[in-house]
Amino acid sequence: MNNIKDIPDPIIINKFKSVYSPSDDSYLIIDYFKEKISNSDFDGLEFNNINNILDMGTGSGIIPIFFLLIKKKYSKFNPKIYASDILEKAILCSKLNEKINHFENEIIFFQSDLFNSFPQNLKHTFNIIIFNPPYLPSIEIEKVNNKMPINFSWDGGIKGIEVLKRFINQVIEFIDINDKKGSYIYFISSSRADIKELDNLIRERGFKRRVVKRKHIFFEDILLNRLELK
Ligand SMILES: C[S@@+](CC[C@H](N)C(=O)[O-])C[C@H]1O[C@@H](n2cnc3c(N)ncnc32)[C@H](O)[C@@H]1O
Repeated sequence: MNNIKDIPDPIIINKFKSVYSPSDDSYLIIDYFKEKISNSDFDGLEFNNINNILDMGTGSGIIPIFFLLIKKKYSKFNPKIYASDILEKAILCSKLNEKINHFENEIIFFQSDLFNSFPQNLKHTFNIIIFNPPYLPSIEIEKVNNKMPINFSWDGGIKGIEVLKRFINQVIEFIDINDKKGSYIYFISSSRADIKELDNLIRERGFKRRVVKRKHIFFEDILLNRLELK
């Protein structure tokens, strides 16, 4: 197994106030992926079986650009890379960062509220979907930052899991359900959120959840969760 820890982190510049700059949660994902990529598989999924990867809520574009850096290093790793965000400025910021990292129009972007504006022909095509969602409860955000566009990065609804619940309800339509190949959905959550309700939904939708990496920051643990079909 080759060690790809020598793959550099993407260079990210963000001059937009409304766009989330990479933080501990973004690097928790990237660090896990660095640990789990060999020269033939990604976290146990064979390179050959990975056709489409989606980063939902891409922000500055750090995650899809990281995948482009892996593609550059491994010719056998050749999926199409998609990224989407609800904010137009996030798409703009990601496109600029794609160029800064010396890639030209390789990422396919959608501006969309979750999967609402995705083309139908992408249904059941993604082998890997990543979402670092807004996961703080609204009330905490409103106290400091009422109705600013940057709130899309943090505001996860009343209990902090509302955006994630909508995501779980929709994602089943877009993940590749061919069980021979296998597919993964990765998402970030906070140890402070009560995710019992989310867990029920995850089970109802036919997934099992595992925490694959965590990091303690100030008053909470941030968790990287991985879903796969049962
Ligand atoms: C915590 S930031 C993560 C950004 C980036 N993926 C990262 O890890 O640095 C959450 C992102 O989700 C986007 N977002 C929030 N609600 C969304 C929705 N309903 N549909 C799509 N994107 C959304 C925000 O605009 C923001 O870019």
